[in-house]
Amino acid sequence: MRRCFDRAERKHARIILLTLGLILLFAALASQAAGRAHASPSPVPPSDNDSCLFCHSEPDMIIEAGAEQVLLTIDGDKFNASAHGQEQVACLDCHVANSKFPHPTYDKSSPREFSYSIYTATKATCKACHADEAQSAMSGVHEQTLDAGNHNAAMCADCHNPHYAKGAAERAEATEVCARCHSEIAAQYKASVHGKALLTEANPDVPACVDCHGGHSIEDPRTAEFRNHIPGLCAQCHTDASIMDKYDLSTNVLDTYVADYHGTTVTLFESNTPRLATNKPVCTDCHGTHTISKTDDPQSGIALKENLLVKCQRCHPDATANFPDAWMSHYDASPQNFPLVYYVNLFYKFFIPAVIGGMLVFVITDILRRILNRLKGGAH
Ligand code: HEC
Ligand code: HEC
Ligand code: HEC
Ligand code: HEC
Ligand code: HEC
Ligand code: HEC
Ligand code: HEC
Ligand code: HEC
Ligand code: HEC
Repeated sequence: MRRCFDRAERKHARIILLTLGLILLFAALASQAAGRAHASPSPVPPSDNDSCLFCHSEPDMIIEAGAEQVLLTIDGDKFNASAHGQEQVACLDCHVANSKFPHPTYDKSSPREFSYSIYTATKATCKACHADEAQSAMSGVHEQTLDAGNHNAAMCADCHNPHYAKGAAERAEATEVCARCHSEIAAQYKASVHGKALLTEANPDVPACVDCHGGHSIEDPRTAEFRNHIPGLCAQCHTDASIMDKYDLSTNVLDTYVADYHGTTVTLFESNTPRLATNKPVCTDCHGTHTISKTDDPQSGIALKENLLVKCQRCHPDATANFPDAWMSHYDASPQNFPLVYYVNLFYKFFIPAVIGGMLVFVITDILRRILNRLKGGAH
């Protein structure tokens, strides 16, 4: 059996505990005092925006969060001009837990953890007024990432400033929101044929991040399902003549893709086994995803055989310089493009109907003759 503490040891332990307790008590009192230092104590629980702003309109109301600082000042005029302020949404409609002062303690280990703790305290309130958006955000990749413990993923307030936003972000503005965290992809996108048109010409026809990914129910784009659906995603616009005619671009790119040996399989995969990854190329394997350029771009355009060859070689490692010639690109065979294929097709177009038609005529006349013969025989 273990020996009990003797008296002297117990005395020591008591002194240590007492000292620790006193230190904790002082620390707590000091932090309260620091909190109140910004404003006079408020015995009455605040009930309307003005009572919150009584303290929170104080300029430079700053607290420490870990090694950094967070500004707690709220600009009342800007708030009143916002979508929420205009609709008389009150501070307490969202900050239900902050009705009394001193407020409950939030995680202040870093500014991000501080935001996250306010998010967990307010997210049910967003949902109460915006059920559809909140519902679809809950199934999205950001919420799943937050739940898995990575608090750097986007929360409502990262994309919508709850205090000052006048409305939901426009497409170009939303792209800047995504760019804050996905800077590398955003930089690629901004240099692409789609991104350049959106951000420098405010072109409404090209896709922004949210057109391909959505704003709320963002899926993980690296799944087999997402990959198999890519041709459909691009085709939304690229088969629409009312858009593509403006840019003199072919609307045949999906049909020609589906008809080739690669596309036929991917289309079958999407309809029959959407969860199974295809090993055939989809649009983005040849064109890139966030880096898509004009096909005749002198540097990166894939109309240039050597640029295209690199793409083929990922899956056909032995492919040599002329390998892409084996493929008709998005062209239908014509006397100009792939004349051999065209004439062979043409030949078959006439030859096969002629042979089958001839056979049919032969068989039908033969049957008729037999029936006639029978009838003649039966009349005896
Ligand atoms: C007496 C001054 C005072 C009043 C009144 C007041 N606050 Fe605060 N508030 C503070 C201080 C001080 C902090 C920083 C607390 C800390 O360091 O934990 C704070 C922090 C906050 C925070 C950040 C999260 C947190 O609790 O640390 C929110 C949100 C907040 N207040 C909302 C409100 C709302 C909403 C009202 C009105 C219902 C309100 N406050 C009224 C002084 C006040
Ligand atoms: C529509 C809901 C909503 C309303 C209305 C609202 N807040 Fe907030 N507030 C939030 C959210 C969400 C956060 C967390 C923001 C973040 O991630 O940093 C926040 C953060 C804060 C903070 C912490 C500092 C900061 O900006 O992150 C303070 C202080 C605060 N709110 C005070 C107020 C006051 C005062 C009012 C009324 C004038 C108010 N809020 C109205 C949702 C709201
Ligand atoms: C990753 C960024 C992002 C996050 C996180 C996000 N949203 Fe949105 N939200 C958007 C974008 C972008 C739009 C603009 C419409 C669109 O393209 O979907 C939008 C639109 C909205 C709208 C306006 C819808 C309309 O038709 O006018 C509401 C309301 C909204 N979001 C609420 C929320 C709520 C509540 C949350 C948290 C549960 C949230 N959002 C999280 C990006 C986001
Ligand atoms: C008490 C109800 C209420 C709460 C709580 C609330 N909102 Fe709102 N919100 C509104 C109203 C009302 C509007 C303006 C009308 C509209 O567009 O729906 C609005 C507008 C918005 C818009 C702009 C949408 C547009 O079409 O212009 C966004 C984005 C938004 N809220 C996000 C949030 C987020 C994020 C939260 C939680 C932090 C939240 N709201 C909490 C009622 C609320
Ligand atoms: C506050 C930062 C933040 C903002 C703003 C943000 N994201 Fe994210 N996003 C993340 C984080 C963190 C992840 C998880 C990354 C990981 O797991 O490696 C993520 C994941 C994703 C994924 C899944 C793929 C992946 O890498 O896991 C997509 C797609 C995505 N975000 C798109 C968007 C779009 C579109 C927008 C703008 C509407 C946006 N994000 C805004 C932080 C953000
Ligand atoms: C034309 C449609 C389209 C647009 C526009 C688009 N994406 Fe994507 N994105 C995709 C596809 C398709 C994938 C799947 C992976 C692939 O094919 O490379 C993807 C993958 C991703 C991924 C995860 C894979 C990775 O490489 O980490 C993130 C994160 C992402 N996109 C964010 C964004 C952001 C942010 C924007 C805007 C700046 C954006 N996307 C614009 C179609 C698009
Ligand atoms: C929202 C509609 C839309 C979606 C979705 C879309 N595009 Fe585009 N795309 C356009 C428009 C519009 C242009 C013409 C832009 C310009 O020239 O300024 C374009 C241009 C292109 C070009 C350049 C053609 C050339 O040589 O000039 C390629 C290649 C392209 N898109 C491929 C794709 C692929 C691959 C996808 C799917 C990952 C896709 N696009 C999704 C609208 C769209
Ligand atoms: C195996 C590689 C490959 C695949 C897969 C592919 N493309 Fe292409 N695409 C090309 C090449 C090469 C060109 C350039 C043809 C030329 O001008 O010589 C091109 C041209 C284009 C153009 C420009 C058309 C024009 O009128 O100038 C668009 C738009 C396009 N593709 C979209 C798509 C879409 C959408 C998909 C998926 C449904 C797709 N591509 C699949 C290789 C591919
Ligand atoms: C993402 C991978 C991938 C890419 C990129 C790709 N292919 Fe393929 N390709 C395949 C697969 C898988 C098959 C089917 C092979 C089989 O069934 O034996 C195939 C079949 C073919 C065939 C039929 C003859 C054969 O070898 O079976 C040709 C020709 C072909 N590809 C040409 C091309 C050309 C040209 C490019 C570049 C423009 C290209 N491929 C890019 C995966 C790819």
